[in-house]
Amino acid sequence: MCYAIPALVEEVRGNVAVISYFGERKTAFNELIALAPGDYVYAQGGYVISKVRSDEALASLDTWKDLFFELQDVDARRAAAGAGSPGNDRRLSSILEKAGQGEIPQKYDAQYLLSLTDPKARESFYGTANLLRQRYHKNSCCVHGIIELSNHCVRSCVYCGISRETPVTRYRMSREEVLAAAAEAVEVYGFKSLVLQSGEGAYPVEELAFLVEEIRRRYPCLIFVSFGEVGLEGLEALYRAGARGLLMRFETSNPKLYAAIHGGSALDTRLAHLRRAHELGYLILTGSLIGVPGQTREDLYNDIVLAGELHAEMFSFGPFLPHPNTPLAGHGACREEEVLGVLALSRLMAPRNAKILVTTAFETLSARAREEGLLAGANSLMLNVTPLKYRPLYSLYPHRAHEQESVREQIDGTIAMLKGLGRGPTDLGV
Ligand code: 5AD
Repeated sequence: MCYAIPALVEEVRGNVAVISYFGERKTAFNELIALAPGDYVYAQGGYVISKVRSDEALASLDTWKDLFFELQDVDARRAAAGAGSPGNDRRLSSILEKAGQGEIPQKYDAQYLLSLTDPKARESFYGTANLLRQRYHKNSCCVHGIIELSNHCVRSCVYCGISRETPVTRYRMSREEVLAAAAEAVEVYGFKSLVLQSGEGAYPVEELAFLVEEIRRRYPCLIFVSFGEVGLEGLEALYRAGARGLLMRFETSNPKLYAAIHGGSALDTRLAHLRRAHELGYLILTGSLIGVPGQTREDLYNDIVLAGELHAEMFSFGPFLPHPNTPLAGHGACREEEVLGVLALSRLMAPRNAKILVTTAFETLSARAREEGLLAGANSLMLNVTPLKYRPLYSLYPHRAHEQESVREQIDGTIAMLKGLGRGPTDLGV
């Protein structure tokens, strides 16, 4: 977002650019821009987004140069101090020691971690996840902006506050409104990646493709699409239009539970979308709902395994929060520790590859979600850049965090929080 650091192009090999941040080398795909060594670019999610004028890049690098290393240092010290001792639980000590050496916990050990109740034991579990995050991803925290285009939806998912059965005032942003929201996010606030989301079937795929193409043409950014099941051809059309990421949760890896909460529709259809998207070259953002009625600890373990098998570039696991106008209204929300457990276990199971998101749903469940999540293995956030007047209508669950906060307020709050933790609001995990 606004605090992205310009990268220096060191080498160009066909459509791959070797870039560096203060000497740290990464690679990024370059699909669009004529580049030469010595140029400066913004990159996001492994893609070159735009060229940056040298004077602008040098000025930005000058403000970053000390802060960059200071933040890394604060983060490294906090991570090293925070792992704590698991006390005299020998099984836990052994699991965490092996995880610290990069060994992936097996099923029963993983479920044991999810079942921990002792606060000290949990702290050492979260601390180990945080150490792995710091070791493999340093202090970068990627921050995407999300625009919620429309709350129209053809689905009747029993947990969802904008399902077609739920009484809510519907809206559908016009082309002009979507483009204006994207312009503001990219040009005013400096977001480098945007998630475009809507209920399923809210727009014809051709219209979505038009929007993706037009945003990319006018406002350089990495676009993630999240429009539900658009069909395999729809995925191709959106990729051709320039979308490079797909945000689509599979919601649960348990096919029976999936059918029960999705009006009988099949998990396989959803997985086919995710698999095809990966083949097409999309970055995959996926995960499940934590705490839906009927879900077991084994299901959660399987969910994390499935996210890995689907090549998730980012894990998106968030708590189920009951919505009063849905069939699941009477059920309890999930507990904060369950969410932290899934985030930390995700980090232990995918230490190197995955970005792990602190979801808005988790922020709604707990005021300390961001700090706690980021200290339990997570390294990613989303800010809501939907026009304020529509946000209350995108009521997936009640009282969403940041619903009334302007984009500026969200950015300022996020940057202050990240700096306190020693994190850079950047996307350097390329
Ligand atoms: N609680 C938490 N998350 C929800 N979502 C939908 N309804 C709820 C709810 N009641 C999530 C789904 C979907 C995403 C857009 O919102 O997981 O993938």
